Amino acid sequence: MILKALIFSNSFALIIAFLLIFMDRVINNYGPCTLTINDDKEVQARGGTTLLRNLFESKYFIPSACGGKGTCGYCKLIVSEGGGSILPTEELMLSSAEKKQGYRLTCQLKVKNDLKLHIPEEYLNIQEYEGKIVISDPVTSDIRRVGIALSTEDEIIYKPGQYVQIKIPGSGESDYRAYSMASCPVEKKQIEINVKLIPDGVGSGYIHSLSVGDELDFSGPYGDFYLREDSHRDIICVAGGVGLAPIKSILLHWQRHNLNRTLWLFYGARGTEDLYDHEIFAELNEREAELKYFPALSEPDESWTGEIGFIHSVMDKALPGDINGEAYLCGPPIMIDAVTSVLVSKGVGEERIWYDKF
Ligand SMILES: Cc1cc2nc3c(=O)[nH]c(=O)nc-3n(C[C@H](O)[C@H](O)[C@H](O)COP(=O)(O)OP(=O)(O)OC[C@H]3O[C@@H](n4cnc5c(N)ncnc54)[C@H](O)[C@@H]3O)c2cc1C
Ligand code: FES
Repeated sequence: MILKALIFSNSFALIIAFLLIFMDRVINNYGPCTLTINDDKEVQARGGTTLLRNLFESKYFIPSACGGKGTCGYCKLIVSEGGGSILPTEELMLSSAEKKQGYRLTCQLKVKNDLKLHIPEEYLNIQEYEGKIVISDPVTSDIRRVGIALSTEDEIIYKPGQYVQIKIPGSGESDYRAYSMASCPVEKKQIEINVKLIPDGVGSGYIHSLSVGDELDFSGPYGDFYLREDSHRDIICVAGGVGLAPIKSILLHWQRHNLNRTLWLFYGARGTEDLYDHEIFAELNEREAELKYFPALSEPDESWTGEIGFIHSVMDKALPGDINGEAYLCGPPIMIDAVTSVLVSKGVGEERIWYDKF
């Protein structure tokens, strides 16, 4: 009797599941649709699929650092026709001004009919690359330095501070992750990224699993976090942990081009073992009169002779109150917020502070 009931309920659940899959296929099959981009180009799209995925498939690369989870807010574009109402999953990432302008989160918006949208000029220069791993070295217990050589005749042109999006195979919709370039942009055939392994992390786990000789795909460059060169102000760089990556690119560019501006480098980590590339900066600090380097550890061992404490406190002590500077910050959100408060208290306006939080 119990067996019969079990078989009956299982069969019932199976039929419901098949029905749901069938209805999803039929109801959500909106067929081919047309995307009109910048009132100029028309591309075919798959109805029922997100706008972001359709754009990627047509080789329009839109920043999507969270891989389409709806949590970074980077993938917003103006959709002027055919987008329907804003979805609950978009609400948090769109300001009321953006909603009025017609911005939509392309990773959440499914194409159901023809759409008209606007893609900013700078996104149209983003390209797709094939790369080969040429360096994969651990630099701390959880961060790897990864060198990627461009496999084709391609070159990548980027600004110091920008990032690439690495394709993570086999992860479905959420198949891109953002990684900042840690290399000097003068080197156009090879980039360096620094990747921190996140427990159970799909992207960081994939990159840590690759070895020299393995191939991977990426697109770039992305981001408006980059060194502004039309200025003579002091450059204030603040890095926390693996947030050092884009800051290192800024520093290398500054050194290479002999920019006639003082560069303040504040670099915070937990223990000595978490501080990588410290020797390079310490050595550079000896040679470059215009570099002011302040490494700091929050949990040092006895061997540490440098600054102790959180990086915002170290910066508060070191920076003069009347500094004519602009700031580039990269690290965890809590660090960015604390550092921003200190900078503002020293007269560095928020319009002169750029950051990437991760
Ligand atoms: C502009 C930009 C630049 C970036 N540059 C770099 C870089 O240079 N180097 C680098 O290592 N990362 C960088 N990141 C972060 C990177 O894109 C990924 O978010 C990160 O590697 C985690 O992805 P994952 O696929 O491994 O983890 P997921 O599979 O996405 O997440 C796995 C789990 O870990 C949690 N999680 C995600 N991130 C963290 C975290 N930081 N700490 C603790 N838990 C977390 C998630 O909530 C989830 O529960 C950057 C991000 C942005 C937005
Ligand atoms: S919100 Fe991150 S990709 Fe859309």
